[in-house]
Amino acid sequence: MSDAEPKGLGKNAANYGDREFALYLRRSFAASMGYTRDALSRTTVGVVDTASDLNNCHRSVPDLIDAVKRGVMLSGGLPLAFPTVSLCEPVLNPCSMHYRNLMALDTEAMVSAQPMDSVVLIGGCDKTVPAQLMAAISADVPAVMVVTGPMSANRYQGERLAACTDCRRYWARYRAGDVTEARINEVENALAVTAGTCGVMGTASTMACIAATLGFMPLEGASAPAVHADRLRIAEEAGRLATGLKRRPSEIVTLKSLENAMRVLLALGGSTNAVVHLAAIAGRAGLKLDLKRLDAMSEETPVLVDLKPTGEGYMEDFHFAGGMRALLWELRGLLHLDTVDVHGLTLAERIGDGSHFVDRTYIKAFDNPVTPVGGLVALYGSLAPDGAILKRSAATPALFEHEATCMVFDGVEDLARRIDDENLAVDANTIMILKNAGPLSPAGMPEAGYLPIPRKLARAGVKDMVRMSDCRMSGTAFGTVVLHISPEAAAGGPLAFAETGDRVRLSVKDRTLDLLVDEATMAARRAAWTPPVKPKRGWDRLVFEQVNQAPEGADLRFLTPCGE
Ligand code: FES
Ligand code: MG
Repeated sequence: MSDAEPKGLGKNAANYGDREFALYLRRSFAASMGYTRDALSRTTVGVVDTASDLNNCHRSVPDLIDAVKRGVMLSGGLPLAFPTVSLCEPVLNPCSMHYRNLMALDTEAMVSAQPMDSVVLIGGCDKTVPAQLMAAISADVPAVMVVTGPMSANRYQGERLAACTDCRRYWARYRAGDVTEARINEVENALAVTAGTCGVMGTASTMACIAATLGFMPLEGASAPAVHADRLRIAEEAGRLATGLKRRPSEIVTLKSLENAMRVLLALGGSTNAVVHLAAIAGRAGLKLDLKRLDAMSEETPVLVDLKPTGEGYMEDFHFAGGMRALLWELRGLLHLDTVDVHGLTLAERIGDGSHFVDRTYIKAFDNPVTPVGGLVALYGSLAPDGAILKRSAATPALFEHEATCMVFDGVEDLARRIDDENLAVDANTIMILKNAGPLSPAGMPEAGYLPIPRKLARAGVKDMVRMSDCRMSGTAFGTVVLHISPEAAAGGPLAFAETGDRVRLSVKDRTLDLLVDEATMAARRAAWTPPVKPKRGWDRLVFEQVNQAPEGADLRFLTPCGE
């Protein structure tokens, strides 16, 4: 049964001295599952199963696997599903980001080690799509992505609700005393009512749109609702596409396709987390995501999509308004149209001729945008020598040029302990800083950058304040929030030496972020600084020894192509 060019079950045979015997054993054990010789001779398509009782966003994965398998078999292949790590945002401690690279490592290893000619990656929740793309690039096995798709919005007392912008909105009102305990409890059961990922342009949706832009899935695949029959048809089509697929991820992840992804991120008003994930995806392909380039693109890329958290609509509105095809058509003048997808179609071919339907409520025309400039800006300065990010589309313009004294929280525990202290010395002008929450810290770069408005100020009607940190913010959050300050405090960046009462200056116009403390004072604080303690063992230890900073994607150095 051995082939000159191994395929299917003949791939990746172990070699314990007698390769033919290894293959004989493999076939024999596979036959024990009831497969015929014919089935075992087919091209094999791995199907990554990320169903988990702990991942609500992936509860439709079993149905998607069935549909993918149908597509593979209709094309004459043999689908073989296998499990990997599955990550759901709200259930992981210290946070899901701490495990994104574990999922990438697991997925890469299983895709590389097991016999498959190509693979269908089924993901959805925030960290799973970037982890799977990183894995696919490193394994460099032909791969098609299927996302679980966004949840559908609920109807609740005359308004629509979906996780998780509405979760934050209601919680903020509850903290401010505008919503009763009885109502917040009722809303708890009304925020997320179908299968699928958060129903707004959060990280999951942003990454799905990016995966489609890069070419890992058909354009409709980015936004079709989780519970719509189209979602199953998309999965079936992914199975067909993957069968016999030859084009490798390294051929589709290029500087040009990454630039297209950045354009889409900006035009979506998409999640800040996508910047970190795109940097990691680029890094796996041996490329660098340039924050200054992103910033320059932001000046010429309008926000065209009007969805929460920055606008009004939900992902289902985006889909039925024309989705990615309509968006890319509007953006076409800024895109590299010759990039190819997994199937070899150019972006121009994928977008088509502009004869698609578009609903301008949610997808604006290029010359009549939501805002004329992109959603994200990169900031540099004495507080962030290697950069920081601000989602200006979700921020308050009156706070763009802001200098004030700061209130510093030493970490997430300190924040939780003091934020609602009635004696906390803050007013609406104070800049709140959270440190020791970056990728190297024990917190693992959580979505804690959206510091709550102190209760006493929330009660007084304060809706936004300037907040800064070395961690991330949920893609579903909003506010004048500076994120990913790099180098982080735990790595000894200047943020480590910021103290309550220091003056800090933010200028969106100049793209600067400065700690207004003289060099002698900084030197004294640096000399007194104690670096964080190395974890004793396990995954935490590996992360501590290997994780790089946000501008490199917070990946593990040994997983990047150069290994350092
Ligand atoms: Fe999974 Fe929001 S919690 S996408
Ligand atoms: Mg999220």
